[in-house]
Amino acid sequence: MRVGLLGCGNVGGALAQLIASEGASVAERTGVHLEIARVAVRDLSKARSAVLPDGVLTDDAEAVVSSPDVEVVVETIGGVEPARTLLLDALKAGKPVVSANKELMAAAGAEMFEAASAAGVDLLFEAAVAGGIPLIRPLRESLAGERLTRVMGIVNGTTNYILTRMAEDGASYEDALAEAQRLGYAEPDPTADVDGLDAAAKAAIIAGIAFGGKIVAGDVYTEGIRAITARDIAFANQLGYVVKLLAIADQVDGRVAVRVHPAMVPKTHPLASVRDSFNAVFIEGEAVGELMLYGRGAGGMPTASALLGDLVDAAHNLRAGGAGRAPTLGQARLRPVDELTAQYYFTVDVLDRPGVLEQVAGATARHDVSIQSMVQDGLGDEARLIFITHTARERDMQATLDDLRHLDVVERVGTLLRVIGSE
Ligand SMILES: NC(=O)c1ccc[n+]([C@@H]2O[C@H](COP(=O)([O-])OP(=O)(O)OC[C@H]3O[C@@H](n4cnc5c(N)ncnc54)[C@H](OP(=O)(O)O)[C@@H]3O)[C@@H](O)[C@H]2O)c1
Repeated sequence: MRVGLLGCGNVGGALAQLIASEGASVAERTGVHLEIARVAVRDLSKARSAVLPDGVLTDDAEAVVSSPDVEVVVETIGGVEPARTLLLDALKAGKPVVSANKELMAAAGAEMFEAASAAGVDLLFEAAVAGGIPLIRPLRESLAGERLTRVMGIVNGTTNYILTRMAEDGASYEDALAEAQRLGYAEPDPTADVDGLDAAAKAAIIAGIAFGGKIVAGDVYTEGIRAITARDIAFANQLGYVVKLLAIADQVDGRVAVRVHPAMVPKTHPLASVRDSFNAVFIEGEAVGELMLYGRGAGGMPTASALLGDLVDAAHNLRAGGAGRAPTLGQARLRPVDELTAQYYFTVDVLDRPGVLEQVAGATARHDVSIQSMVQDGLGDEARLIFITHTARERDMQATLDDLRHLDVVERVGTLLRVIGSE
């Protein structure tokens, strides 16, 4: 099976290395002999970690896609364009596509599936969500007969690393981020990770596959972790919770709600034990009950391992003269997050004035948000009020926070965390 590889960076380079080192064993075990026929990169002068066969490297990605030497295309370029156009061309030419590109799948997944289905070839993207963890194939195939109710995961290793350092070492957000950057877990510009955008793209893909609807990254309600303080995490710990950035998709009455936000996870929940840069996805279904898939959600080699599995599958199907079962994505009926309910944790920094508590309590009461407990941390103008609510509606909670922001006695409204298990 002659492979055209688009991109030879972190992930593409690792795939080329893996095919070189494991190709013979893969051929023996699966009957599929993989050969890298062409590789497209942007800069031909760059040094490559992978040893590539002579003459395969080019800076013309279109030529790789259209080459008669290429039977299957693997994309590790990233971003929507030119990846989208290149892969649509490959599919139209009857070449199966394997991709690691979450951004593309979250923006144009439905269009890509339609093109693959029209051409009768595979479009596989296990590597695009949670790196080396098998997730898409279990959702699409093993759980095809299952009525799933909720899929909830830690799908961004960078933020999980930062939150773990804050919880275990008492590090500030800034120090934990700087350490993640030093170790190469976080980019110099960490926006996509810490603002939840990377997790939102993955949440859109997971929700579409789990609940069978067209869902794009823009449909995902998204909050990141920048506002979380070491004090929030320490307080959550005292109450028996760990703070995690979660991607959550669930279906109630045929409508799907998809969101990414930091949450308080009970220490007894399996997701609470997922530390450092590891990822895990917790799946709940009516017949199967609870499942959890855990592993390396990123990194060149784990991601290349997922690509290699897809490649073997695509090669098998191509030789058999067809494609595996493609998802059929209807129009998803989305449930706005403001209809969701949860218990909430929130903090308010207040001035040292008489009547502060009445004003704050007045704002919560006006919106039917009832307080389960309140603790004061610090004194005078340093005072922070920490609240846990009874179960409330998101819309009411947000309206309460808006009111609080407008009170003269409130200096700052801090972190908002939903409590998992309280919905
Ligand atoms: N890194 C991870 O841990 C991880 C995990 C899961 C999924 N992914 C996904 O995998 C994809 C690749 O990530 P990466 O970390 O490997 O990125 P990367 O190291 O930046 O590699 C990108 C590669 O694409 C090449 N490229 C960019 N534009 C091109 C163009 N127009 N034509 C031909 N080649 C082009 C680059 O060429 P040059 O080398 O010449 O610059 C480079 O080789 C992304 O979609 C990412 O979201 C990554």
